[in-house]
Amino acid sequence: MSSSVTRSIHGNPSPASDPGAEIEALREQLRHHEYLYYVLDAPVITDAEYDTLMNRLKALETAHPELLSPDSPTQRVGGRPATGFQKVPHSRPMLSLDNAYNEADLRDWDRRVRELAGSLPVRYVAELKMDGLSLALHYESTPDGGARLLRGLTRGDGQIGEDVTTNVRTIKSVPLTVSPDKITESGIHTVDGRLAFGQDFEVRGEVVMPLASFRKANEEREREGLAPAANPRNFAAGTLRTLDTKVVAARRLDFYAYFLLTSAEYSPLGQQAALDALTTLGFRVNNHRNTFTEIEGVLGFLNEVEALRETLGYEIDGVVLKVDAQATQLRLGYTGRAPRWAIAYKFTASAGISQILDVEINVGRTGKLTPTAILIPVLIGGTTVSRATLHNADEIARLNLRIGSWVKVERGGDVIPKITEVIVDAEHPEGTGIFSMPETCPDCHTPVHRAEGEVDYRCTNVDCPARLRESLLHLSHRKVMNIEGLGEAMVQQLTDAGMVQSLADLYTLTEEQLLTLERVGQKSAQTLLTQIDNSKQAGLARLLMALGIRFVGERTAELLASEFGSIDALAVAPQEELERVEEVGPKVAAAVREFFENEKNLALVERLKTLGLKTTAEKRIRTDQLAGLTFVLTGTFPTLSREEAKEKIEAAGGKVSGSVSKKTNYVVAGEEAGSKLTKAQELGIAILDEAGLWALITTGSSPKDPLP
Ligand code: IVH
Repeated sequence: MSSSVTRSIHGNPSPASDPGAEIEALREQLRHHEYLYYVLDAPVITDAEYDTLMNRLKALETAHPELLSPDSPTQRVGGRPATGFQKVPHSRPMLSLDNAYNEADLRDWDRRVRELAGSLPVRYVAELKMDGLSLALHYESTPDGGARLLRGLTRGDGQIGEDVTTNVRTIKSVPLTVSPDKITESGIHTVDGRLAFGQDFEVRGEVVMPLASFRKANEEREREGLAPAANPRNFAAGTLRTLDTKVVAARRLDFYAYFLLTSAEYSPLGQQAALDALTTLGFRVNNHRNTFTEIEGVLGFLNEVEALRETLGYEIDGVVLKVDAQATQLRLGYTGRAPRWAIAYKFTASAGISQILDVEINVGRTGKLTPTAILIPVLIGGTTVSRATLHNADEIARLNLRIGSWVKVERGGDVIPKITEVIVDAEHPEGTGIFSMPETCPDCHTPVHRAEGEVDYRCTNVDCPARLRESLLHLSHRKVMNIEGLGEAMVQQLTDAGMVQSLADLYTLTEEQLLTLERVGQKSAQTLLTQIDNSKQAGLARLLMALGIRFVGERTAELLASEFGSIDALAVAPQEELERVEEVGPKVAAAVREFFENEKNLALVERLKTLGLKTTAEKRIRTDQLAGLTFVLTGTFPTLSREEAKEKIEAAGGKVSGSVSKKTNYVVAGEEAGSKLTKAQELGIAILDEAGLWALITTGSSPKDPLP
């Protein structure tokens, strides 16, 4: 299958007899198509064709593990750092920028720049100021004259960053390799015919979470009973520091390059040329940029950008101006914390004034009461806002909010609008009172409860109709039991008619019952019943999600399911055993215990079992091949990072120690192994290479001929 696709896309089929050549050809094609798709937004093949190429490459690499390389497109989701992130000093400090908030600030800055520049040219490059977090990418040269991603560092304190390379690799707009051709074409290696820098270079830029990804990921969090992230920037920052690469990959971050650093003291290219070079090298560079010789032009650009802001699909918080020419940059230099040759013009957050007409209380499936302010509609940044979240009772008290209050409403990009302050505090319109949370659930009138140390009020009635409706909607979700026909209107009808009073009742519904509902014909009734019936086979992980145990979302449900294998085993697992599961901490473990200690929940589970729902999952087999053995790692391994090697050893029950002693059983040595290897040789400790380690893990016996 691959060769015909290969030919139709690239025109030169690779010799099937040479897997190495075919692997390289596939990698190159995949990189090219990733670039077209993720950087240029202009794919030329379908997703299916892309998958075909990717699957072929995966198959070849599985068949020839010796040909695996960390910069293969298959390796974007690699292992994961087992023990947090290493701190690494920046090649040069990552500074911040001085801010300008209005035209006067900008004109002042322009005047200072011109004074200091003297006779040197002053031209500005205006770029968007993307609202994410900055990232430094180090590329090292490869023998073929190309380069590859060596590491990615967060800003940290500006001097020392955190090594988030494994996570950065999952960002598809970050090139893992740069071909020699692109390096030559970019011109970055020569300026006026001389070598401008050694082949290593560094690219700095901004990691952003596109609004579409943000919305999707937040919906996911809400389904897991977690508070939604406040804004894409915080979410992006949290994501990049997540220990699970799969989570990072799923969240779809993006990287925009805005700075090229070479190993010469300063970039010999002007900023404008550097951005063009970055584009040629295959980085995503924001297209919305321009150059201006006068500050008037810049002011026009600011207006254009304000108008554009709503349509971008990611958040920006201003415009960055940089002096273009390198000579002028050098002359202007730096203050302690920022370059004098650049400035950030910050937009004020979009805000409007409105009046609170009412406060609506929604009851979620966990019983949580969420207040929402109903506002007189107000136009903010091109969008009409008529509702704003009030988060919780503490927030309402802090703002001293009343129904009738005039308030300032802010929205940043696509985030749910929020009320930031009360405008006329003293003079509330007549007849208004301080708002307080209701004492009973607005739906079932059971007294609400606020647990100690928590900000939220909850309806404690597990049979509350509002909670049931939300639980059914959650259960029907594509990623849970996947019952498409169970939408909001259907749920409302089923609960209003009293046909469904518990999740289990869903599985006793009959066609006759459904036909008594409005707008339900024989066909739609049949479809719904089939979907409900199919969902019985969804398996333990999805069932756990459907049950709505607090903090148990998709990933946790999968981990619990594969660890325990059945709901019966999970139901009796003690707290400590639950905490031993990957990614399960005391909070999640306690929530699971609480769920299974509740009689009503146990009865529900029993009933679901009787109704034929699958309550088992394939159990993961843990190996203990390396139990009781201590390893020391040294040098660089061909395919595994140190962290990955450590993780593999620990997963197989072994221990990894930092120093060689008589108690060490094996030293795993890679390239450029240091004093630890010498010490191991002195002590006569067995030495393995990476292949030897693999053999030990998979077969449990050490290879015949370990390294000398
Ligand atoms: S240049 C020497 N260009 O804004 C400083 N920064 O407030 C180099 N940012 O830390 C920064 N878009 O994270 C630059 N086009 C852009 C930017 C940008 C966003 C961020 C960056 C920086 C912060 C400064």
